[in-house]
Amino acid sequence: MSQIKPVNAGLLGIGTVGGGTYTVLTRNAAEIARRAGREIRIAAVADRNIEHARTIVGADVRLTSDAFEVVRDPEIDIVIELIGGYTVAKDLVLAAIENGKHVVTANKALLAVHGNEIFAAAHRRDVMVAFEAAVAGGIPIIKALREGLSANRIQWVAGIINGTTNFILSEMRDKGLPFAEVLREAQRLGYAEADPTFDIEGVDAAHKATIISAIAFGIPMQFDKAYIEGISRLESIDIGYAEQLGYRIKLLGIARRRAQGVELRVHPTLVPAKCLLANVEGAMNAVLAQGDAVGATLYYGKGAGAEPTASAVIADLIDVTRLHTADPEHRVPHLAFQPGQLRDVPVLPIGETVTSYYLRMRVLDKSGVLADIARILADGDISIDAMIQKEAGEGESQTDIILLTHRTVEKNADAAIARIEALDTVQGKVTRLRLELL
Ligand code: HSE
Repeated sequence: MSQIKPVNAGLLGIGTVGGGTYTVLTRNAAEIARRAGREIRIAAVADRNIEHARTIVGADVRLTSDAFEVVRDPEIDIVIELIGGYTVAKDLVLAAIENGKHVVTANKALLAVHGNEIFAAAHRRDVMVAFEAAVAGGIPIIKALREGLSANRIQWVAGIINGTTNFILSEMRDKGLPFAEVLREAQRLGYAEADPTFDIEGVDAAHKATIISAIAFGIPMQFDKAYIEGISRLESIDIGYAEQLGYRIKLLGIARRRAQGVELRVHPTLVPAKCLLANVEGAMNAVLAQGDAVGATLYYGKGAGAEPTASAVIADLIDVTRLHTADPEHRVPHLAFQPGQLRDVPVLPIGETVTSYYLRMRVLDKSGVLADIARILADGDISIDAMIQKEAGEGESQTDIILLTHRTVEKNADAAIARIEALDTVQGKVTRLRLELL
């Protein structure tokens, strides 16, 4: 093995994950070479901050501030893209592919939005684009869905695929604190970014859910069709009522196969408190995948961080090293299905989603109110599963009613909610959350 020439990787971006990748590759070099069949070395690093990069890498590593120099370097076999974002990263990945380099990336945004173009280019040039680190960090969920479950018709995948929001939701439940206060604390502790928009508004989870849907069902990336609702408007009171009804609220990314198309959605979701996903706490990630043959399978681990994400990046490096001399036809297809076998299955509009609902409404505490609400739901063929009515406080004339419904089509639920909100006895808007029994 020692006579075989090492594989040379060029690392674009040596921040948290890039640093972790270099550290783990160096620390486990001998073990990794035994697995890969040859040494994998970082031969070049491109980063805006060369001085900082030099504090991480050894003197044998070439440093440059020009990432295009690395993607054009004939000595580089694999480009590791850890810059992030859609602009420069896209140009670099496409340039690497055009130069015949294999690419390993952790860039979920890039793949969810431009993946179809990138994979088509990679197919034309017979190179691999590997992306285990793009979804759920260190959890090998891409490998599991693309290879481990390949006998199955995958029916649905539901996951806690954003650690920042799971940390915030866990804290809101444990401490009974409002969202804004917990977000500030999460930022202070480094769990949330200074600009947390992508995480808290569900965009990061939607990028990951889009990638999951593509490899689970053999469909193109359709991020623009994903329904995205984050946690910034979630109120602690609903976490409390959900708890009383035996549920916890999690931000789930859901991809579900239906006869007419695919559901692709991210939103706060009530899940039964006893199910495993409900008990995934703090910044941890977990993905539940249901296949027709295997049944439900669950994957749990760290979805972010230097070494957990490096674990996924390096697993891809090893895969690419093993397979880069193989006939391209014999490699695992990028999106799990052969490129000519992807199906243009539509992502269904959110109104066509079928799920259960949690409804909270503020009502006047007088006779007939509940009967009116129940009548509207019955008219919409929406069956009530459970209910709480709070006793009105002393001297108060209003109270909260919380209802859980059985599964129904979302547009029917919306129509019923509009009618309930129009009742004189119902004050303000109805709070509506989706509920999944998983
Ligand atoms: N920001 C992500 C999270 C990790 O909070 O899970 C990287 O996708």
